[in-house]
Amino acid sequence: MKIALITDPHLESDTQRFPGLDPLARVDMALEAVKQQVPDADLLVLLGDLTDTCSVGSYQAVRERLTALGMPTRVLVGNHDDRQSISSAWPDLPVDENGFLQSSMITDNLALLFLDTHEPGTHAGHYCAARQSWLAAELARAGDRPSFLFMHHQPGFVGTRVDDSRLQQHEDLARIIKREGNVRQIICGHTHMTVAGAWRGIAWTSLQATHVQVGLDFPERPRRYYSGPAHIGVMLIDGNGDSAVHFYDFLQPYPPFQTV
Ligand SMILES: [Fe+2]
Repeated sequence: MKIALITDPHLESDTQRFPGLDPLARVDMALEAVKQQVPDADLLVLLGDLTDTCSVGSYQAVRERLTALGMPTRVLVGNHDDRQSISSAWPDLPVDENGFLQSSMITDNLALLFLDTHEPGTHAGHYCAARQSWLAAELARAGDRPSFLFMHHQPGFVGTRVDDSRLQQHEDLARIIKREGNVRQIICGHTHMTVAGAWRGIAWTSLQATHVQVGLDFPERPRRYYSGPAHIGVMLIDGNGDSAVHFYDFLQPYPPFQTV
């Protein structure tokens, strides 16, 4: 399976804070990169923080573009998003029995689960008991299939200021994952950084935003934002449930070497 990944477009962001940055143009560039690099992807996952204003129009702008791409798509809800607005702009997004934007794709040999870690009024990730019950049931349904979680907020530590807003109930998540025993990897947005790590023995990876990047803001360093690189990700999962995640900077001006 081949999965295209895009995260954190932050449409309608503050133009005074980030002068010259056009988030919607970045989305177009990212989708063009998907078309060029992985036109045969089986799925595109947008990992949240679609817009800073939560206007229905901004969600519709993303939806129109993804519809035009014509690729099966799953959309996660991030801390900057609004569940109501996203659902009214995108009524066909799958929800769980409690109205959370959670869904799963279970095939013959693997399971993909798309989690909703949004909590109104905070930038931190949350995963309440109702959402945890859904996940436990879906992982049980996946059985011995290698399973992959997609969620906006990272469960593991990064070592930078983004740790303040990591998934707060990560110990609960760890208990569910340990009990079911089938999760192989977790893919996240939110950090605006390329990070690979292991959390409770599970590989997790986040990719850079299409919007601004966060520098290495370890606690002793100031936070700085950078205009690039800006990534799409390409995740490959083979028949054994082994995976590789590639990153492609769609802003890159670098000419390829002409090799023979
Ligand atoms: Fe976020």
